[in-house]
Amino acid sequence: MIVGVPKEIKRDEYRVAMLPVGAEELVRAGHRVLVEAGAGLGSGLPDAAYEKAGAELVATAAEVFGQADMILKVKEPLPPEWPLIRPGQVVFTYFHFAADRKLTEAMIATGATAVAYETLRDDQGRLPLLTPMSEVAGRMSIQEGAKYLERPQMGRGILLGGVPGVAPAHISILGGGIVGANAAKVAAGFGADIGLLDVNMERLRYLDDIMPANVDVLFSDRHTIREQLERADLVIGAVLIPGAKAPRLIERADLKLMKPGSVIIDVAIDQGGCVETSRPTTHSEPTFMVDEVVHYCVTNMPGAVGRTSTYALCNVTLPWGLQIANRGIERAARDLKPVARAINIIGGEVTNEAVAKTFGLPYRPRFDV
Ligand SMILES: NC(=O)c1ccc[n+]([C@@H]2O[C@H](COP(=O)([O-])OP(=O)(O)OC[C@H]3O[C@@H](n4cnc5c(N)ncnc54)[C@H](O)[C@@H]3O)[C@@H](O)[C@H]2O)c1
Repeated sequence: MIVGVPKEIKRDEYRVAMLPVGAEELVRAGHRVLVEAGAGLGSGLPDAAYEKAGAELVATAAEVFGQADMILKVKEPLPPEWPLIRPGQVVFTYFHFAADRKLTEAMIATGATAVAYETLRDDQGRLPLLTPMSEVAGRMSIQEGAKYLERPQMGRGILLGGVPGVAPAHISILGGGIVGANAAKVAAGFGADIGLLDVNMERLRYLDDIMPANVDVLFSDRHTIREQLERADLVIGAVLIPGAKAPRLIERADLKLMKPGSVIIDVAIDQGGCVETSRPTTHSEPTFMVDEVVHYCVTNMPGAVGRTSTYALCNVTLPWGLQIANRGIERAARDLKPVARAINIIGGEVTNEAVAKTFGLPYRPRFDV
């Protein structure tokens, strides 16, 4: 197979979908690897490192898309990339279709196979290709929250941990999955006072066992959320219903409950956000104000810490990329259920039920998932 790695073109995206060691592994397995010149620079990976590993450098994205049987990317294809995608080509990347009808329709129209990192689910129900980016975003959400709580950034002027004699910040974390648990862990280290909310009782029991004493583990319902909003200096939106649009937990009217200068980091924005007033932002302009509440809604948070994120992502995507390259997508999907579950669109048909439902499109199951 020819495997292609284009340079990411999303604004402020510094990750790349393959490390030089990935190119070496694929070449050793008998494949060809095409890397667009400069693709790794944002993560501190020079072209020469890919060449040394056996990859072929090409000058443009058009050449990568034009020749490769499988494209490895990080973010969803953007409109300039859509016309480059060919029927039957495998595109293995994050798509987050449920948040973007136009992208869904564009990928249907290409006739390509969209294999989504975020729906590659193992037999234990885990999402191994979402996990490392969620770990990064969860830990980073507290770092960003701390920054935007500072007065010059329009925040309340609050130090997360307080100081002796002054209470620490209260942080409400909605969703106790990977993002939420990582946020809670870092926030606890700062000495903040934390409410961590989830609806899954088994998960709540587990979190209650492992979290330090400054984390209260709470069941997420309307009343608890409203109480938390009244107390919170910082709110982290970290909920997920896999493949579907994020549930809306904070409505516009709820912002009135919050203190002026408090901060919402809506990490779930890549699935549409869990706050009514959220809208996607970029690292260049990450925040906006609504009703005196700072909103931070960057859809690709891990992109800002590209080097950490590239290594964390490629460590987990390479084994699956290799499996698809070695077997071809049809056999890989038949042999490996996680791959079958990752296929969202194939030959112009939607094979992921949640995506089909979200847009009222016909659901055409094709593989045994
Ligand atoms: N913005 C970014 O850059 C970025 C980066 C990584 C992940 N994310 C997003 O962050 C979100 C969370 O990811 P994750 O890996 O932690 O998912 P996860 O599946 O590990 O955790 C989600 C949790 O939300 C809980 N939940 C569902 N409904 C809830 C409700 N009504 N109230 C409270 N909790 C509820 C679930 O029980 C689950 O424990 C996803 O949308 C993911 O795509 C965004």
